[in-house]
Amino acid sequence: CGIVGYVGSQSALDVVLAGLKRLEYRGYDSAGVAVAADGGLAAAKKAGKLVNLEKALVDRPLPTGSSGIGHTRWATHGGPTDANAHPHLDNAGRVAVVHNGIIENFAALRDELAERGHRLDSETDTEVVAHLLAEEYSACADLAESMRLVCRRLDGAFTLVAVHADEPDVVVGARRNSPLVVGVGEGESFLASDVSAFIAHTRSAIELGQDQVVELRRDGVTVTDFAGNPADVRTFHIDWDASAAEKGGYDYFMLKEIAEQPKAVADTLLGRIDAAGSLTLDELRISDAELREVDKVVIVACGTAFHAGLIAKYAIEHWTRIPCEVELASEFRYRDPILAARTLVVAISQSGETMDTLMALRHAREQGSKVLAICNTNGSTIPRESDAVLYTHAGPEIAVASTKAFLTQLVACYLVALYLGQVRGTKWGDEIHAVIRELAQIAGQVEQVLETMEPVRELARSLADRNTVLFLGRHVGYPVALEGALKLKELAYMHAEGFAAGELKHGPIALIEKGVPVVVVVPSPRGRSVLHDKIVSNIQEIRARGARTIVIAEVGDEAVVPYADHLIRVPATPTLLQPLVATVPLQVFACELATARGNEVDQPRNLAKSVTVE
Ligand code: G6P
Repeated sequence: CGIVGYVGSQSALDVVLAGLKRLEYRGYDSAGVAVAADGGLAAAKKAGKLVNLEKALVDRPLPTGSSGIGHTRWATHGGPTDANAHPHLDNAGRVAVVHNGIIENFAALRDELAERGHRLDSETDTEVVAHLLAEEYSACADLAESMRLVCRRLDGAFTLVAVHADEPDVVVGARRNSPLVVGVGEGESFLASDVSAFIAHTRSAIELGQDQVVELRRDGVTVTDFAGNPADVRTFHIDWDASAAEKGGYDYFMLKEIAEQPKAVADTLLGRIDAAGSLTLDELRISDAELREVDKVVIVACGTAFHAGLIAKYAIEHWTRIPCEVELASEFRYRDPILAARTLVVAISQSGETMDTLMALRHAREQGSKVLAICNTNGSTIPRESDAVLYTHAGPEIAVASTKAFLTQLVACYLVALYLGQVRGTKWGDEIHAVIRELAQIAGQVEQVLETMEPVRELARSLADRNTVLFLGRHVGYPVALEGALKLKELAYMHAEGFAAGELKHGPIALIEKGVPVVVVVPSPRGRSVLHDKIVSNIQEIRARGARTIVIAEVGDEAVVPYADHLIRVPATPTLLQPLVATVPLQVFACELATARGNEVDQPRNLAKSVTVE
């Protein structure tokens, strides 16, 4: 969910709505706002996208107060209805609250409140907070103190932001696990799930820590723990350009973000390769000596970031000879994984807020392992709680389906693998240097792919009425196939599956029938030619059974030509780097298919960009 709070001399409603627009990618099942004005609270909420709320506000305008809160929801408890939308108010309508996360003991609290005569109107866990705040406020008449008292009674992960009619120049926020960032302006203060909500107003931000409450006033902010003790705060400067979060002439953020990939890749490499062609990762905060001690790497991530992790495994094991496991973050801690001080855990996350990944990294640290985060978002929780961080420099990614962040995650994974190889002086030293030189060229090759995408778009349009598309790959092409299938599921809502091409004959080949489109990611014929030959055989096998083959192959690979119904060319790269170029046509393919099927590209149904619940 996305949360915004504001206190200042601008119209709180306008600031909050503009902030919600920026955060809509975090959830878009329903939206709502509340402002403190004219001695009371005025609120509006609507199921569906933010635009529904905006329309409702045109028909029934709210007064412009100087403080306000807003919410855009990704439903957990209770369906996406008007009643379940946030904010939630107490029965007297004096306090309003918005919430992200899950309050695990809400049923017990709800029963208690009902016994004390409260009338609860929604099915959400959030409503109980509004009622509890009202009870506490009637005793202490201090919203921040009421929030601290209420938080002490809540179990689960939550971000809460509240306003009270009796304190019209105050907004209070609380944070346990779910993200919340404070923006400090001149005579105004902001609260939001991430900085993009207030970047147009201020570049000065404060990360809220775990179990902290913040009181926002025009003249500043006060941060305490849940017991009321003052907390140390760290202010940081936001270096994202506000215009980076605008569509800039593109129809969708996703198209813009696909187009930005060469720059994102180049920015992520910037300053990390020195003149002699070696890597310098000074910012890593784990010493070379410690890296030499590492005897196992475990990668945890979700969704697209997990696919980056799968590819990283091939690179890490090849260049460093350190065993590497990759695991879905949501599965990790529940199976009691074997972790030790010499295990390096790599947590990959664009947002830095994914709860599954956060919980996996906490588990790893509790077991004494060091955690290195690969993250795109400064000030987010995952890097903050990790021992070390390597930032990707993709800039803000707004479209829910990840594109440029994925490519930069790959770059960061290669950097980690190569750096581990470099400091450990493996026998692949020459290859490592050669690959570093190739990496320095890769942004240009991504650009070349982007310039040749029109036939891919055309192909996508021709498949708009299909139900199934399959994806095959071997070696690093296998995770690329998984990513291609994920993109299609997310955006085109089609049945799409990725398989290891060698596994085909063990089951999935039964799915092949006349005309089924199958995308095959073909590795370079140079280098690992056995791999190439095997996949050419696989293409023949599926074609013999009627598949319509869509082949992604390196320029100059002639062996695939007779078996490709559609051929998509990518520049020649070392095998391990091929995902950086081979993924791009699959992103374009999925985006175009979504458009052809009339789907929302940037905000696919049921999804949210950062999932801050487990
Ligand atoms: C959500 C998004 C995916 C993303 C995943 C991991 O499910 O919809 O696109 O890959 O989270 O996100 P992260 O921010 O941790 O990379």
